[in-house]
Amino acid sequence: MKYTDASLPIPVRVEDLLARMTLEEKIAQMQQVPANLVTEEELFAWAERGCGSFLHVLGEKADELRAVQAKTRLKIPPIFGIDAIHGHALLRGATVFPSQLAMACSWNNELIKAVGKATAKEVRADGLDWTFSPVLCIARDTRWGRVNETFGEDPYLIGELGKAIIEGYQEDKHMIACAKHYIAYGEATGARDAYDSEVTVRKIREVFLPPFKKAIEANCSSVMTAYGSADATPITAHKRLLTDILKTECGFNGFVVTDWQNVQNLIQLQKITDNMEDAAKIAIEAGNDMSMATLEFYDAALKSARNGDIDPARIDDAVRRILTVKFTLGLFDEVKKVDKKEINCAAHKRINKAIADESIVMLKNNGILPLNTAEKRKIAVIGYNADSIRNQYGDWTFYSHPDASDPTEIPANEHYTLLRGIQTEFKECNVQYHYGCSIEDSNDSDIAGAVALAEESDIIIYTVGDSYKQNGEGHDRADLQLTGRQNELFLRLCETGKPIICVAMCAKPLVFNTVAEKSHAFLVSFNGGDYGGLSIAQILAGKLNPSGKLPISFPRHSGQLPVHYNHYEIWHGGRYVDYDATALYTFGDGLSYSDFIYSDLSLSASTAAKEDAITVQVTLQNNAKTDGYETVQLYVNDRFSSIITPSMELKGFKKVFVRAGETVTVQIPLCIADLAVVQPDENYVVEPGEFEIMVGGNTKNTLKTVLTVQ
Ligand code: GLC
Repeated sequence: MKYTDASLPIPVRVEDLLARMTLEEKIAQMQQVPANLVTEEELFAWAERGCGSFLHVLGEKADELRAVQAKTRLKIPPIFGIDAIHGHALLRGATVFPSQLAMACSWNNELIKAVGKATAKEVRADGLDWTFSPVLCIARDTRWGRVNETFGEDPYLIGELGKAIIEGYQEDKHMIACAKHYIAYGEATGARDAYDSEVTVRKIREVFLPPFKKAIEANCSSVMTAYGSADATPITAHKRLLTDILKTECGFNGFVVTDWQNVQNLIQLQKITDNMEDAAKIAIEAGNDMSMATLEFYDAALKSARNGDIDPARIDDAVRRILTVKFTLGLFDEVKKVDKKEINCAAHKRINKAIADESIVMLKNNGILPLNTAEKRKIAVIGYNADSIRNQYGDWTFYSHPDASDPTEIPANEHYTLLRGIQTEFKECNVQYHYGCSIEDSNDSDIAGAVALAEESDIIIYTVGDSYKQNGEGHDRADLQLTGRQNELFLRLCETGKPIICVAMCAKPLVFNTVAEKSHAFLVSFNGGDYGGLSIAQILAGKLNPSGKLPISFPRHSGQLPVHYNHYEIWHGGRYVDYDATALYTFGDGLSYSDFIYSDLSLSASTAAKEDAITVQVTLQNNAKTDGYETVQLYVNDRFSSIITPSMELKGFKKVFVRAGETVTVQIPLCIADLAVVQPDENYVVEPGEFEIMVGGNTKNTLKTVLTVQ
């Protein structure tokens, strides 16, 4: 049979197989079954029915299900999906990389691509083929529970890093990525998970679509439909977004999988229909090719199709997309297995430490850092998260999905909490630890004990933050103030008069006003993975020069949100009566032990046509005695346009290494087409006029010049 002949072109094999399939076999390919939703017996019954995909299956179980499927009439292999979103972290012993938000602080495309590649190796070593990653959502209201899973607040940076990790995931062609959640999921009103996003299609094109376009450039093989809705139309039912724009206009040729129970949610939550046959019809006709969970989907879609309510060509298109990916993955052919030795291997540990090193952001340093490790002194390490690997890991690890049986379980793979990191880097010092207070529970604290330790120490390293239980799906917050008695303990520690270094170990931006104002140094480490604690300690010890830059802004108060940097300059009064308008820390912020001086900003042309590309050049000098990395950021302001545009938008960046005392020239390309606005009629137009070009190491101190577009 042609479809089993690996020497034939994939389209030929797909068409041959499709022609052989019954309607039952086609609809079965469109059903994805979660192992944690069915009994063992039901799971294998689905395999006998030839279902297209399983999720939340690990290792050996996948092989058992493949063996059952190999006995079906056409022997179509299933594809196994898993949330390997910062390493294959649902598998005990696999490398736990920093979260996406943490990795985004590195602004290092190449390193993030290497993380993707290493993750793919570990997922495949475990016998699976598909990760539901990356998240390309834009996090602009940090009350949302899933901010940690994103690459932050900026469409350009998200698109660049998303493209990088997708290329890494898919490089060896035996694992596919999944760009999610399509679309504007993080923009829900009130940051309420899965709620409605009050966005027009024009706004979606302007802000939320660009990262998905870059995912398509990277040949991402799947896209996941978001839970929510855009202007009250469920994304699952949004044919214009899923088919007309994503597939037809943007040329996405992979397959679309719904998020968990999206088809059922059309009935139960979004209430746009009262029956499953209609829900299945709506979802399929809108452009969903595979239904995640909603086990009734199979029978309902079959019934709808048999009644002639679903266009058979649409079903064939969905199955064709799924089969094409399966053939491209090599699932029908003998694919070389990946040795289990790849899981948490030395090479992956090196990549993990390297990305952790670049994922930490120093936001304040009054000169106290770096500490002299040779000086014998007593260091008080205080704070729950300094010794909680579970909170350091954050969401989507074996601790959290499904809930670990033993919350005190210690990971098998090598890992460093901040406490262990400090004990490792400050061997000459007397390092003592006290948890101080619980993250969430005000009744669980020993303020006096922590203060007593601080009183007898020479220096305090205090961690603040949140817990993995305060983040994730359905875990939004109204108030981002530090919970428990963290602020109270901090103020008591300040009263001791000892120098105090504060480290935020958190999943996302919280309100850090008090600690930022009174600490001698303040650093942020979002969920840092296996080596987060060691990297922080090495920065404190001066062994490592911090290079992280924030991918997201920090509010001073939850009531300020949104505070993202790329805002409009229109506000009567320009501030709240009771609060100013500015963020505590802004996208692009981040300090170094080096001292970077920018000069000589120039453009390869000061006038350009719409189809041109120019080069933006700047001179960068490292005026300190410490070598370091700097992320040079290129922002643009469209001075006057037919539609309101933000005061500045990131349009390029380059991370460069500059030795102490050295001067380098940095060049960043700028395509004039990237300056297009999305006009009210949704046309992308580069409008002639002046564009302010801004270059610097953050959004506030930039060199400026003007480009004229004709
Ligand atoms: C979840 C999430 C999605 C995840 C999927 C499978 O509910 O929304 O991001 O990939 O279900 O676990």
